[in-house]
Amino acid sequence: QAPVITIDGPSGSGKGTIAKLVADRLGYALLDSGALYRLTALAALNADVDLNDQAKLAEVAANLDIRFDIANGEVSAVMDGKDVSRDIRMERVSMAASKVAAVPAVREALLQRQRDFRAAPGLVADGRDMGTTVFPDAPVKIFLTASAEERARRRYEQLRGRGVSVSLRDLLEDIRARDDRDMNRATSPLAPAEDAVVLDSTDIDIDAVLQKVLDLVHA
Ligand code: CDP
Repeated sequence: QAPVITIDGPSGSGKGTIAKLVADRLGYALLDSGALYRLTALAALNADVDLNDQAKLAEVAANLDIRFDIANGEVSAVMDGKDVSRDIRMERVSMAASKVAAVPAVREALLQRQRDFRAAPGLVADGRDMGTTVFPDAPVKIFLTASAEERARRRYEQLRGRGVSVSLRDLLEDIRARDDRDMNRATSPLAPAEDAVVLDSTDIDIDAVLQKVLDLVHA
């Protein structure tokens, strides 16, 4: 079976960026598992599904008609034939995704779909439970963290760069709410796998994190 490198961590830890850089560097496929939860949330919102109706949400997750296209190194998410890459990053979808992800039947419905991303020569899988639940046999597992303040600050800079005006305090509150939900849900709560290497990126930049991950891969 093709090797998997799992990169898990909380919202804003930079795991998405690192996962993409590692996949590019190694020529591996990339699974952004958060996108699957975001797509489920978007589909549920579009269909006016009650976010408390767990059975309906699981049905939505099981029946998603989605694919990921790659053009010029950029991945786009396509649902029902339409590019929804922007839509799934909207704030209301982020919030809904975090709720949808807490539903055990939704996680179950998405499990095989995630495992199907495994392909030669290898896969980099980014998420919350890649190392614990989805790919427990992965030979390299990273758990990337950073303080909530630093994660909020990075998100603030990123949004400001895009001309979006937000308050740092709101972002911090938002990150804390999501951490809380991710860590305290019953199924696959956010936590490092026993055999994961924990990297704290609060005081080191992306290049240094990338180097550490590549060192682990080649160790
Ligand atoms: O950008 P951010 O890290 O906030 O989110 P994401 O990685 O795109 O994931 C969206 C939502 O899906 C998060 O709020 C997580 O609760 C959930 N998620 C999950 O439960 N398990 C995963 N493997 C990936 C994401």
